[in-house]
This record gives sequence, C-alpha cells and structure tokens, in this order.
Amino acid sequence: MGYAMAARTQGGPEVIQRIEIGEITPAAGEVVIEHQAIGINFIDIYIRTGAYPWPVDENLILGSEGAGIVTAVGEGVSHVAVGDRVGYTLPNGAYATSRAINADLVVKLPDGISSEVAAAIMLKGLTVAYLLNDSYAVKPGDTVLFHAAAGGVGLLAGQWLKSIGATAIGTAGGAEKCALAAAHGFDHVIDYRSEDVPARVMEITGGAGADVAYDSVGKDTFAGTLASLRRHGTAVAFGQSSGPYSDFKIADLGKGSLHLTRPTLFHFSTVRSWLEPASAALFGHVMDGTVKVNINQRFPLEQAAAAHEALAARQTTGCTILTV
Ligand SMILES: NC(=O)c1ccc[n+]([C@@H]2O[C@H](COP(=O)([O-])OP(=O)(O)OC[C@H]3O[C@@H](n4cnc5c(N)ncnc54)[C@H](OP(=O)(O)O)[C@@H]3O)[C@@H](O)[C@H]2O)c1
Repeated sequence: MGYAMAARTQGGPEVIQRIEIGEITPAAGEVVIEHQAIGINFIDIYIRTGAYPWPVDENLILGSEGAGIVTAVGEGVSHVAVGDRVGYTLPNGAYATSRAINADLVVKLPDGISSEVAAAIMLKGLTVAYLLNDSYAVKPGDTVLFHAAAGGVGLLAGQWLKSIGATAIGTAGGAEKCALAAAHGFDHVIDYRSEDVPARVMEITGGAGADVAYDSVGKDTFAGTLASLRRHGTAVAFGQSSGPYSDFKIADLGKGSLHLTRPTLFHFSTVRSWLEPASAALFGHVMDGTVKVNINQRFPLEQAAAAHEALAARQTTGCTILTV
C-alpha cells in the first residue's frame, strides 16, 4: 500500500496529513508513476492557504512536480513504457508514493538527469524556460531584474541569463542569499530588505532602467519593479510570495508606456509541442553544465508540512525536494 500527503482543507501546514492510497490502475491515455522524488514549490503553499483555487472538497493531494518510474501504462500510450524514468509538472497530486497521470504530460528522462534533479526542475526550470523565451525573449545585452534570486526559480534563472549574455540584476533578502545569487550568474545583487531597488537599478544602468523585470514576490516589490524599468520596458508578474498585487492600477503602466504580462507555466507545459523541446533544452543546459541544480533541502515525503514551513519562512535557498 502506498500513501500520500494531502491537505484535508485550506489552512496552515498542520492541515497536511498522511492518507493511505490503494492500488492505482491507469485509465486510457494515462501512466502510473512510482515516485522517486517530488518537488516542493511555492504554488503548493498558495493552494494550501487558499490564495489559488482549491479544486476538491477535502483531502487534496498537493504537489506539482515529480519524477520516477513508470509501473503501468493505459490503453493508447505509446511514447513511454513500463520501466522508463519520467518527469512531469502538473498542479496537485504529486505528494504521493505513486500516482496516475495523463501520459501527454510526462517526458522521458535522459541518463544524465537523475530523478531527484528532474523533481527539482520540471516546474521551476520549465518556468525559467518560458519566462526567458516566451513571456519576454531575453537577448544578449539586455538588462534583466529578477526578484527572489536565491530561490528555486531564481538560482536557475541567474545561470540561464548568464548563458544568454544578459546583464542580470538579482534581488534577495540578506547578505548570505545575495552572495549565493552572485555565485549563480547574477552580475549585481540588491538586498531588497535594506536597499532601494529602483535607485540601485538606475545606478547600475546609468539611469536607463531595466529592459525587463521578473517579479514573483508581488505585494512588497511590484511598485519598485515598475519604477526600475526603462521606458517601454516589460514587467512579468509571475507569483506573489509576499501577497497579492492589490495596490496596482493600470495607470501605473502609463509612467513609461510599460508592458505587463501575468503568465502561468501550465498554459505552456500542458501543450506537448512546447513541453518536449523546452524539456530537452532544459535537460541540455543541466547536462552541459550551463545550469547547475542546487537541491539545498531534502525532506522525507511524510515531512511535507515541515518543507512548507521552511519555504514560507524564507529559510530555503535553491530547490527543495521530498524523497520517497
Ligand atoms: N507563474 C508561474 O508559472 C510560476 C511558476 C513557478 C514559480 N512561480 C513563482 O515563483 C516564485 C518562486 O518560486 P519558488 O518555488 O522557487 O520559491 P523560492 O523563490 O525558492 O521561495 C520564495 C522566495 O521569495 C522570497 N520572498 C519575498 N517575500 C516573501 C514572503 N513574504 N514570504 C515568503 N517568501 C518571500 C524569499 O526570498 P528572500 O528571502 O530572498 O526574500 C523566498 O525564499 C513563487 O512566487 C512562485 O509562485 C510562478
């Protein structure tokens, strides 16, 4: 018998409890995956706390990224077989020893990508892929502001930006996190707990401002994000770890004829023709050393609540995974 870690209702980390799960059989078009590792992401916290939609009445198995071995395939599945190692990202259902999932959402893992690494980057690394290619296509020479630079998404983004040849300006909380970000591709790092972000960006860019700013912090940073952009610059708002963007008004974009987008990974990753090449590019970057994956926290699956507490309390850097 397997088990899962499910939230019995919306609430604090204490709502996460162990539930037993029976044998899982795949429906047509599905595969069953026995997890070897599972990623922890901020979206899991948003869903648990109610910041994002809650899709079931009770016992929602959290978790949006995982990797493991295919143990059964449903009718009509031909691109993966029993015994293959695969990874995926999809909202909910991952904090479990096994799960069934639509086969179109999984990709085979090359030998050079361990299941732990895949569980750490299927959501976070594919997010970096669409942010830097699709939400705004970063070019060599662009100046890019990226908040929460020492986090899971942040450390991957800094290294990817360096490989493009952009000037990357990161923000992070505290000297230790700033040093970590600087060691992972960020040319400049601003401690946003103690420094004025727009003033520092203007100083670094000689008064020009950044071409694009990626903001996943939200409430505490967004006004500064807009104030850090050049005229006609682009803001990409992709998360809200400090709270929703409640003070924002469309007129705020008028200060510089600014562009704004609010993307979400699953609008990209559920499209097979995007998922396959984006995963191949991500794995390629990891295998050739362009992007090093920092799994800085590991928790056993049963301690998912402790992993949530650490992430929400800003105690983590890089990626966090659950081991099975
Ligand atoms: N839209 C999408 O498609 C998409 C996909 C993936 C991730 N995301 C978003 O990207 C962000 C990063 O995700 P992640 O899983 O890699 O997390 P993370 O960056 O590892 O952790 C979040 C970081 O945000 C910073 N932060 C600032 N204010 C905070 C607050 N009040 N409470 C908690 N943290 C705060 C902290 O860094 P400091 O201590 O340095 O401030 C914290 O470590 C999240 O907002 C997530 O929702 C969005």
